[in-house]
Amino acid sequence: MKLKELKESLHELKPYKQYGKVTRVIGLMIESEGPQASIGDMCSILVRGREDILAEVIGFREQQVLLMPYDRIDSIAPGSLVETWNKPLEVSVGHSLIGSVIDGLGRPMEEHGAAGLKKYSTDNDPPNPMTRPRIMEPLSLGVRAVDTMLTLGKGQRVGIFAGSGVGKSTLMAMTAKNSDADINVIALIGERGREVRDFIERDLGPEGRKNSIVVVATSDKPALMRIKGALTATAVAEYFRSQGMNVNLMMDSVTRVAMAQREVGLAAGEPPTTKGYTPSVFALLPRLLERSGMSENGSMTAFYTVLVDGDDMNEPIADTVRGILDGHLVLDRKLANKGHFPAVNVLQSVSRVMNEIAGEDHKQTAERLRRLISVYESQEDLINIGAYKKGASAEVDEAVKLYPKIMAFLQQQTEESPRLEESVEAMLVQFGGGSS
Ligand SMILES: Nc1ncnc2c1ncn2[C@@H]1O[C@H](COP(=O)(O)OP(=O)(O)O)[C@@H](O)[C@H]1O
Ligand SMILES: [Mg+2]
Repeated sequence: MKLKELKESLHELKPYKQYGKVTRVIGLMIESEGPQASIGDMCSILVRGREDILAEVIGFREQQVLLMPYDRIDSIAPGSLVETWNKPLEVSVGHSLIGSVIDGLGRPMEEHGAAGLKKYSTDNDPPNPMTRPRIMEPLSLGVRAVDTMLTLGKGQRVGIFAGSGVGKSTLMAMTAKNSDADINVIALIGERGREVRDFIERDLGPEGRKNSIVVVATSDKPALMRIKGALTATAVAEYFRSQGMNVNLMMDSVTRVAMAQREVGLAAGEPPTTKGYTPSVFALLPRLLERSGMSENGSMTAFYTVLVDGDDMNEPIADTVRGILDGHLVLDRKLANKGHFPAVNVLQSVSRVMNEIAGEDHKQTAERLRRLISVYESQEDLINIGAYKKGASAEVDEAVKLYPKIMAFLQQQTEESPRLEESVEAMLVQFGGGSS
């Protein structure tokens, strides 16, 4: 065994090394003369008095190699040596990672004792669209409002559109604890350090952590590290999907990934377009988001949070993401302010797969609730000021009667974990079959 490993590592030995030399650093961009490397290759920059600085080749300008760092660059000096790895970043993945927290490059952030890991590329192609199986099976999320009104399928990809403080983290943690998936890969990109700890210790807790891998790239990390965090999390989820598992990938937030790519793009000299986002942002998003979903081996159900401040659902990232995914959950600040949690606005949210995976009774009852909510909300102002007269419309009367019951049904404490079947059954009992 030992001998075999040694023999394999012989292939990786390089009999000679070729170095480049740093010539210039402007902002985030490092320019060097050499080495011979391709776009996407990892490089180490050798500096005095500290560990090598990792960087990635992101372009060329005349004879210069353009590099972006994964780390602080404070000790780089003119002439610092640059060594190429001759390959893009790979992460080490395996079952022993489950329960751990890793950084954007896949390195454990606390003592964990991970063993038996395999190298896995972070930049993979999406599954072939022609052989990608269709979504056929519902996923029990354990979140009543979603399971009943917006049923999701195993392998579906949805956006969670919300402003800050309306319950994204809480919803993700509930999903991690309650859902049917075999494992959760949770990417926290661009959050502050405190939020990360709150999420892992308070929201997720030991129960949620035990079948999750959390990938963390906080806001203070270089832009490239935040982008890599998203790619690494996706790669880890791909690995478990390739093992035949049902995986949940949750990325909070894809907006911050887009912002990180904008930083890289601007530094590399791309022209800014809408809201300063550069063309490479709109190239990255589909490439990233298409990697989740079904594959021939397993499923990767994906949740991408999108920040929509001031309810601007048409800002460019929200718009692009919505176009790529198979549904979206809108978390509504108005509901959160009323203490209605999870603050899912069912009228504004869509699951494009529900029609194919939910039973007839279930669909009809969900449709009925939607109509009742919509009728009530269209008359809400009149009802609130007492201007609506009972008896004026049978439909409005019914909506007025049932609205509080429906809203109560859609709320859920964080400790509750109803399975999809239970929730649908409860919905049919309470609201099924015409008038009640
Ligand atoms: N299901 C829920 N039940 C009760 N309170 C909730 C629920 N979801 C969110 N909240 C409240 O909303 C606050 C913000 O939620 P959080 O998930 O941290 O939002 P975000 O991640 O969108 O910033 C929480 O501190 C909590 O008080
Ligand atoms: Mg949060």
